[in-house]
Amino acid sequence: MKVQVCIIGGGPSGLLLSQLLHLKGIDTIVLEKHSREHVLARIRAGVLEHGFAALMREARCGERMDREGEIHEGFFIAHDGVMDRVDLHKHSGGSSVVVYGQTELTRDLYEARDRMDGKVVHDAADVTPHDLKSDAPYVTYRDGDRIVRVDCDFVIGADGFHGVSRKSIPKEILREHERVYPFGWLGVLSRTKPVSPELIYSRHERGFALCSLRSQVLSRYYIQVPLTDKVEDWSDEAFWDELKRRLPADVAASLITGPSIEKSIAPLRSFVAEPMRYGRLFLAGDAAHIVPPTGARGLNSAASDIYYLYHAMVDHYEKGDDSGLDDYSRKALARVWKAQRFSWWMTTMLHRFPDSGSYEAKLQETELEYLFSSEKALGSLAENYVGLPF
Ligand code: FAD
Ligand code: PHB
Repeated sequence: MKVQVCIIGGGPSGLLLSQLLHLKGIDTIVLEKHSREHVLARIRAGVLEHGFAALMREARCGERMDREGEIHEGFFIAHDGVMDRVDLHKHSGGSSVVVYGQTELTRDLYEARDRMDGKVVHDAADVTPHDLKSDAPYVTYRDGDRIVRVDCDFVIGADGFHGVSRKSIPKEILREHERVYPFGWLGVLSRTKPVSPELIYSRHERGFALCSLRSQVLSRYYIQVPLTDKVEDWSDEAFWDELKRRLPADVAASLITGPSIEKSIAPLRSFVAEPMRYGRLFLAGDAAHIVPPTGARGLNSAASDIYYLYHAMVDHYEKGDDSGLDDYSRKALARVWKAQRFSWWMTTMLHRFPDSGSYEAKLQETELEYLFSSEKALGSLAENYVGLPF
């Protein structure tokens, strides 16, 4: 089989790029390791920047997001018994974020690919890129007993942190920068009315907590847990009890609990791989970089990669102009590192670190006190949270 662009990974990054390129007449295939049901069972991001939302619309996938997604003009930070509101609208100069789940967004992308007869292969086993430094790269995968070969002009590695693409870049070329945090987030999705119409990030001596939502009837809550904890250790009741302890008393009192419909633990990690290009391979999204979810930047960083790649590919095919492809890694990484900085800062300010003492706790308190006493500090938070320009 021959296509112009072979995309490894059918998560939001891979599907969005495939959809955008298809609309420009560029032929793609998406090779996804898992079934569609498996991909759609993952509960992850909930907060999107308007830059991402605009790309969804450009990909003709924005209709349901525009109908069902919620515009949020602020969020709360609970700390030291108070709830301070970050007015995103005011401090970012009129911007906001869209609350719309990654699961729904991925479903919309799959449906759009189906409508356009896009080639998406599920359960593609042993996906392997070859000859990435040549002008004729190809990718192989196994379908049952059959090995299928896909010849292409370019390979896109959009296969997440554990994928094969990044690993196919030789060790002497790839530089990896990493920070692993000594805790994870235990998340619960429940069909209950959210405790607050806006998100609440809570710093507490027992550990961080987050009250988020997918809609006004679907809540998403998280608590910081040690890395040694297993999901089975946490009954629904134990989760709700611990969440309530980490929220201001009046918020805890109004929390509506119910059975969890999904419960999982995500470890927290900061990670960047450089460069994001190797020959004819281009990495995008979590395949190249990971952030702890505290700043809601992960999927949004993937979106800027896709934006740069999309325009670079269109320039290549429509104008024979390769400057976007040549500059991709530098440009993408410049924005990626800013998202890294912001996510690290939010995480450090709001979590309890097992090895920290009273000095670090005082610094965290001072950071928050400074933040809510300075318009400039709030402006910096707000412009990063709503998303820096692409
Ligand atoms: P993925 O979603 O990981 O998709 C990669 C795909 O590649 C997967 O479907 C995988 O099955 C497939 N794959 C893997 N290996 C192979 C292989 N060998 N061959 C073929 N296919 C393969 N981000 C935000 O912006 N806002 C938020 O509010 C937010 N909240 C989050 C909350 C949590 C708890 C977590 C865990 C993450 C959150 N994120 C958030 C981050 C966001 O979910 C990720 O950044 C996003 O999923 C990245 O998309 P992706 O398509 O690059 O990678
Ligand atoms: C979510 O709703 O899953 C979510 C929201 C904000 C974050 C992280 C996760 O910072």
